[in-house]
Amino acid sequence: MRNDNAGWTGNSIIHLEGITKSFYLGTDHELEVLHGIGLEVNDGEFVSIVGESGSGKSTLMNIIGLLDHATSGRYFMEGVDISAVRESALCTIRNRQIGFVFQTYNLIPRTSAQKNVEMPMLYAGVRPQERAERAMALLQMVGMEDRAKHNPDELSGGQRQRVAIARAMANDPAIILADEPTGALDSRTGRSVMDLFHRLHEEEGKTIILITHSKPLAEETDRILTLIDGRITREQQGPFRAHGVPAPDSETLDSDPV
Ligand SMILES: Nc1ncnc2c1ncn2[C@@H]1O[C@H](COP(=O)(O)OP(=O)(O)OP(=O)(O)O)[C@@H](O)[C@H]1O
Ligand SMILES: [Mg+2]
Repeated sequence: MRNDNAGWTGNSIIHLEGITKSFYLGTDHELEVLHGIGLEVNDGEFVSIVGESGSGKSTLMNIIGLLDHATSGRYFMEGVDISAVRESALCTIRNRQIGFVFQTYNLIPRTSAQKNVEMPMLYAGVRPQERAERAMALLQMVGMEDRAKHNPDELSGGQRQRVAIARAMANDPAIILADEPTGALDSRTGRSVMDLFHRLHEEEGKTIILITHSKPLAEETDRILTLIDGRITREQQGPFRAHGVPAPDSETLDSDPV
């Protein structure tokens, strides 16, 4: 990985400057959906991103997760200038440094929970026995070891998401990116998924960025960023309240829609 960090000497794990993203919809039609995002995320921070549908949350997350390129602006991950990294090296960074969790799980169908968890390790060149052992240990961590041989369609939504979280942890990434991970789950199941993120944050020291439409869940994180129409319009620093504990009153955050 090349470290070309000229012009930036900070130590945050994620550093964005003036990030824009435009989608080209036909020859003359360009839609800018992110308008100059600046963001610092510190190592070990748990940050949430809230905002209305269409405000650009997933677009921003995809850029942070190296699934998509910014149109302009600068992005340093762990001090590495991402714009200077070749595509093949980007895949390696993505595979080793980032774990993704999506609303709809994105597990590989007709493939067992264990093999799903092994997949990122397969790409990373981990040997079969080590893969299998680590996959089982991760499934145990998320309470899914007794479903290791089940395919995704034989699992409930909450169980699928726990497998997806185990998969996200496969290569022990520094950063977990979760795009509405509880969005398709009932509140009790969502609660158990959120508790898993807290464990990864507190016990494993993971840096976590969580997109959520849930105000109470956002309030459990260290910092809340609000995105409106492709701009970060507000940053609120926690603690808002202890996780798992009902908010003392509902006015901890302003009454903006979350
Ligand atoms: N591939 C694409 N091509 C064109 N426009 C896109 C593309 N992806 C996203 N957009 C547009 O960018 C804007 C932001 O979309 P994005 O998916 O980031 O929103 P979001 O905040 O994640 O919304 P939601 O809460 O519904 O998931 C939307 O107006 C969307 O239509
Ligand atoms: Mg989205």
